[in-house]
Amino acid sequence: MSTKTQLAQQLGVVAGFDDPRVDLEQYRTPPDLAAHLVHTADLQGDIEGRTVVDLGTGTGMLALAAVLRGPERVVGLDLDPAPLSTARENEGRVGSTADVEWVLGDATAAPLAPDGPTTVVMNPPFGAQADNEHADRAFLATAAEIADVSYSIHNGGSAAFVEAFAADEGGEVTHAFESEMDLPRQFEFHDADEKTVTVEVFRVAWR
Ligand SMILES: C[S@@+](CC[C@H](N)C(=O)[O-])C[C@H]1O[C@@H](n2cnc3c(N)ncnc32)[C@H](O)[C@@H]1O
Repeated sequence: MSTKTQLAQQLGVVAGFDDPRVDLEQYRTPPDLAAHLVHTADLQGDIEGRTVVDLGTGTGMLALAAVLRGPERVVGLDLDPAPLSTARENEGRVGSTADVEWVLGDATAAPLAPDGPTTVVMNPPFGAQADNEHADRAFLATAAEIADVSYSIHNGGSAAFVEAFAADEGGEVTHAFESEMDLPRQFEFHDADEKTVTVEVFRVAWR
């Protein structure tokens, strides 16, 4: 198994969005955070031999982190075709030996029903934009439906919300860690070019 640092280095070649859509909160997860999330999942036995589904895959960062750790199958799903084509190029760049299935679809409509043990990884829209509030709730609902475990990135202060949602669905938050992420200016209505925000990553066991 590569180390977390080696995984982050491999992911350094993953290109972000050419023309990011603010309404879909399109920005790339930093390689070190993606590596931390997937390395943690791998140590928990949540990657190897399993189906990994990246909901809102964008340009593929989390799906590609997963495919480099030997899962049975990886699916990256997004409703915008433009980043999916960048994701395909990124797949060539990271030099994975296994393929990722890139799927165009709506993550909030649970478009997949994978067989066998399934892990969802995701950095869903936070709902920071007024007309997109609670976007992460619909992504969690899909995770509850299709996966037995998920790892999701949320904005800081989401613990009570994620714990309550998981409990309502018969699940449980088993692990959590905090990190920091630079968000491009357009997502935070901020004067600087980017803003560092605190994010929280949760592992939820759904069943
Ligand atoms: C914060 S970005 C994360 C991108 C990528 N997963 C990463 O970690 O770099 C959120 C992604 O969710 C996608 N998205 C937003 N709403 C969606 C929906 N309803 N169904 C599928 N994808 C969606 C956006 O197009 C965008 O690629």
